[in-house]
Amino acid sequence: MDKIWLSSPHMGGGEKKYVNEAFDTNWVAPLGPNVTGFENDLSSYVKANDSQDYYTAALTSGTAALHLSLVMLGVTHNDVVLVQSFTFCGTTNPVVYQGAKIAFVDSERDTWNMDPIALKEAIVTLIGQGYGIPGKKEPQGNKGYIRAIMPVHLYGMPAKMDELEAISKESGIPIVEDAAEALGSSYNGKMCGTFGVMSALSFNGNKIITTSGGGALVSSNNDYVEKARFLSTQARDNAPHYQHSQIGYNYRMSNIVAGIGRGQMEVLNDRVAQRRANNQRYSEFFANVEGVELQTEPNAGFYSNFWLTSIIIDPSKTGGIDREFVRLEMEKENTECRPLWKPMHLQPVFEGSEFYGSGVCVELFEKGLCLPSGSNLREDEFERIFEVLNRIFKK
Ligand SMILES: Cc1ncc(COP(=O)(O)O)c(C=O)c1O
Repeated sequence: MDKIWLSSPHMGGGEKKYVNEAFDTNWVAPLGPNVTGFENDLSSYVKANDSQDYYTAALTSGTAALHLSLVMLGVTHNDVVLVQSFTFCGTTNPVVYQGAKIAFVDSERDTWNMDPIALKEAIVTLIGQGYGIPGKKEPQGNKGYIRAIMPVHLYGMPAKMDELEAISKESGIPIVEDAAEALGSSYNGKMCGTFGVMSALSFNGNKIITTSGGGALVSSNNDYVEKARFLSTQARDNAPHYQHSQIGYNYRMSNIVAGIGRGQMEVLNDRVAQRRANNQRYSEFFANVEGVELQTEPNAGFYSNFWLTSIIIDPSKTGGIDREFVRLEMEKENTECRPLWKPMHLQPVFEGSEFYGSGVCVELFEKGLCLPSGSNLREDEFERIFEVLNRIFKK
């Protein structure tokens, strides 16, 4: 029995043309026409109908994009960054690379993303502790600045950006948007990846489009994007020899990898449609199953790419069936499901960190499961998946 994966790479067929071109022209380097082409494709894709233009730097990963964003905002020791706890470590770790502290923020129930109420509470508390806000309020004692707010669009579902943006505007704390999982999603008609002063995309192997590994930094401010290109190629000053006036990183995407990205951009809209169709199928199945709820778009303003279809199982309503039971039953049939992200404030590595909220993300983690959601799932694979689900829920 072949393994059914949660989300596996799905090539469109056009990728090899760009990769071969890179070989044929010997552009086997961390720059070249595919890198520029991929960046342009991404910039125009996220612009969509926006009046604003966007710029993109192609990088080795989404984590690198978030890291460079924080570097450019000046995040350093004694500073604090407000991060959605319910996420992958790629969101949080760059804060630690910069030696700053994380204040973890809970999720709200509608989108499972950053809770604006908990965010407000966090900001008020941190200011009370003596943290400053760049350009607005000087810190006290040994405290630094509250440098950024980092919301995430989990599994493709846009966070409540209107409310988060209002808090950002009022407080003066910029948003660094983690759109790693949300390329193709939008909120009130505006694409995810365009909400931050800088935003990160990921093209990791399991994402909606993949370059095997890769990421991008997107911004409407081209200065940030040009600086990201500079920093991601070891911060070389303009000189014939190697001259460095600041510390750089080796984070630039290669021209080979970008070739895969250009091919994947040709099928991105299909991939969104396929993942949304998967979600529709699951949603029809669970419509009349007591105790199982899907992550759903709260209203017409939210448009998710439904990268992963995720459910919450309440064992008190399913006759004791919980997420672990479902996961293990699927595993017996060689089908991969995953618990939702374990909140980062519960991770041993972040033990003792500050957390703001009532613990909604903890409950979501305990009850939640991601279902196989690849855009390349075949009909016979869906039959196998629904056979197990039928056995469990519709005996
Ligand atoms: C929410 C989130 N943030 C950040 C990342 C980091 O992206 P990458 O793996 O490209 O570094 C990922 C994915 O891997 C992610 O899912």
